[in-house]
Amino acid sequence: MQPPYVAVANAEDLEPGRFLKVEAEGRAFLIAMIGDDFYAVEDLCSHEDYPLSYGCLDGDRIKCSLHGSRFSLKTGEPLDEPADQPIATFAVVIDEGQIWIDPSRAMNAAD
Ligand code: FES
Repeated sequence: MQPPYVAVANAEDLEPGRFLKVEAEGRAFLIAMIGDDFYAVEDLCSHEDYPLSYGCLDGDRIKCSLHGSRFSLKTGEPLDEPADQPIATFAVVIDEGQIWIDPSRAMNAAD
């Protein structure tokens, strides 16, 4: 893989229905495996900048443990109040047994 992709974990460290907290470029991210698909989001709730890694997965959603908002791992959209802004989602690629993410640009960022 080429920059801006960064290797963040071994693919074998992640199992379906689980997530890993990883670091890239000084920021924290969650990598989740849902079925055969991988998702990356910033480890930051959009409501009060609380780490989503303290929360839990609910299907293809991550639930914030502070006030309970759930976010789609696919789109970053909030599904419950009190959060009303999306979380940042990032591209994920599996290559040569490594999980790579592109931390340089959120896929759901407004241009
Ligand atoms: S800090 Fe996550 S829902 Fe409030």
